[in-house]
Parts: sequence; structure tokens; C-alpha cells
Amino acid sequence: MDTKIFKISKLDEKSLAEIKESADVLRAGGLVVFPTETVYGLGADATREECVRKIYEAKGRPQDNPLIIHIADPRDASKYTFTSDIYFKLAERFMPGPLTVIMPSRDNIPKDTRGGLDTVAVRCPSNEIARALIKALDRPIAAPSANLSGTPSPTKAEHVIADMSGRVDVIIDGGECDFGLESTIVRIEDDGGLTLLRPGKITVEDLLTVAFEVRIADAVTDKLKDGEVALSPGMKYRHYAPSAELVLIDAEDNEFIEYINNLNEENIAVITYSELLAIFEDLNKELTLFDFGHKSDEFEQAQRLFAILRETDKLTLTRIYAPLPKKEGIGLALYNRMIRAAAHKIIRMRR
Ligand code: TXA
Ligand code: MG
Repeated sequence: MDTKIFKISKLDEKSLAEIKESADVLRAGGLVVFPTETVYGLGADATREECVRKIYEAKGRPQDNPLIIHIADPRDASKYTFTSDIYFKLAERFMPGPLTVIMPSRDNIPKDTRGGLDTVAVRCPSNEIARALIKALDRPIAAPSANLSGTPSPTKAEHVIADMSGRVDVIIDGGECDFGLESTIVRIEDDGGLTLLRPGKITVEDLLTVAFEVRIADAVTDKLKDGEVALSPGMKYRHYAPSAELVLIDAEDNEFIEYINNLNEENIAVITYSELLAIFEDLNKELTLFDFGHKSDEFEQAQRLFAILRETDKLTLTRIYAPLPKKEGIGLALYNRMIRAAAHKIIRMRR
């Protein structure tokens, strides 16, 4: 399949025509990769099972792993799900934006879109290209992250092109994604409380300004125990794993530096804060260094993480060392993605 690429930096006459053409491709049953404020999405018409099935095929994704449906207006959620008060409170505060809400599905969303579940995940992205595409189609777009299953979610068009060329009809290159980690996912419970299934830019603290309770699903921070069922099917799969072993270090900066300095290993890489790069350079060791961004700037770290993991795969490395993020605020999203990429390998030096 030939993949057409549209490069769009702003909405103008030319790009709106390209978005309309992309919507026509979706209407004809095709696949379109589009930018969002989190990561790139691999889209198809969410209301037609024959379209949605192509997503699973293009990604190599297991059929029981449900998709998020993307809408242009938060109020449209009621057309496809049974919305409740708490949904509208969340919508008012956080939408359009990087929040996905799981609610009971109506029949107009096919089972293939929801991986056979009775619920469906809904999100209204803030990226204007994404919203213009949904509006042009005039239907919700089902879209997982536009990576091949098992590689990190794409945050730049080059990542999408590497994974999806020849597998999709159109790629809309909208530049680097603003945030860089996938949306926060919550499920609305019968009592109106929320369960956090995946942490993201909208933090637990943010959610608590609207909801009376936010329970954090075990799989967000811990390994699933044998026989335990993941609340979100995607959580049971190993994710974002770089080909070299990733090891997280829970330590003060000086302990981290000393640990690396004492290693007797070859072909190792270190992901570290901008402030510490010079110290690692001075260690007089063969290290590949990746700049994770400033220590206090978790937005910078979120934006860089997946791109760095992809970079490590281009090199011959045996092991990659990185700091273990804190579990607070945006840190929880970094923590969740990094422990999964590291398959929970953590070296703890803190007492
Ligand atoms: O930021 C994002 O959310 C991106 C952009 C493209 O919107 N999308 C994304 O989709 O990350 P995906 O498919 O890579 O991750 C969606 C996660 C999966 O882990 C899936 O299992 C879970 O959401 N999920 C979807 N529907 C669900 C449902 N009804 N119940 C529980 N989990 C669900
Ligand atoms: Mg994904």
C-alpha cells in the first residue's frame, strides 16, 4: 500500500483540503494516522467493524485490546455511551484535552472497537488537526497509538513513518506531540467515583478537584500478580520495551553517578537529567548519554521519553540505566511508562 504524507503546521485552506481528503479516506474504510497532543493515533471509522479491524491488523495488536474513540465535541459522548453527571464535570474541566473516560457503551459502537467489552473509552483531543479530522468525518475515530505493538508510542512523524509506512493510507505529520505520553484513562464507577487505569498529564490531584474519589488501579504502579485480571486490557501486555535491558535506579543523584562509575560493563547508556550530563561526561567511561531534560521539568521528560527509548534501539547496547521517577503529579505517568519499559527492574538504594 502506498502511504500518502501530509505535512500540516496550521489550519489553512490547503491543510483543510488535506484533512478533508483524509476524512474521505476514512469514510472509504481506510486508515489515517493523525497527531494529537499526547501521541500520534492510528485512526479508522469507529462505527464500522470492517474499518476498525484494519487497525488491529496494521498494528499487530491483539483483538481483545479495546480502542479509544475520539470525538470532536465532549457532548457527543452521549451519542455513543451512557454518560453521567461526573462525565460532564470532567468534560467541563479537562476537555478538549488528554483525558479518556470509560463508560458503558451504546450499541452503535461495534464490539470490535471495544475489544468485546460492554464499555467504551472516549476522548476529545485538544489538537486542532485531530478535531478537524473528526469533524470532517462527522463520526468518532477509533485510534490506538500509531506504533507497532511493542514499540513506544510515536511522538514524532519520523516514528510513525518508521512503524506505519506501507501499512496505512495517510499519515498526517503535525510535528512533535506536545505532551508525549498517552492520555490519562479513568473509568467511572457506579457510585460516581473514578478508577485511574493509566496516569497521564491530567494528574490524580487534578481529578480530585472534580471527583470525590480516585482509586488507582494496581497495575498502574505494580506488576500484575499471577492470575490477576487487568482492569484495562492493555495493561497486561509488555509495553514500550527497548531491545536493551532498561534498569531503573532509585537513588540520590550522587549515588546514581557513583553506581554508574563503578560498573564494569560495556555498551551501556544512561538517561539522565540535563544538569548531570557534564558529570557523566567527566567520568572517563564509555557511556552513551541521553538528555532526559531538566530535573524539575517533568513536561520536558514526558515529551522526550519515548523518543529516547526509540533512539536506544538504533544502537548496540546491553543495558540502559535511568532514574526512577517520583510517583507524584506528572511523575506518576513517567513512573508507570518507565517501570513497564523496564519490566519492573529497579535497583533500590534509598532506605
Ligand atoms: O493519548 C492517547 O490516549 C492515545 C491517542 C492516540 O489518543 N491513544 C492511546 O490508545 O494511547 P491505546 O490504544 O494505545 O491505549 C488505550 C488503552 C489500552 O491500554 C486499552 O486497553 C485501554 O486504553 N482501553 C480502551 N478501551 C477500554 C475499555 N473499554 N476498558 C478498559 N480499558 C480500555
Ligand atoms: Mg498504545
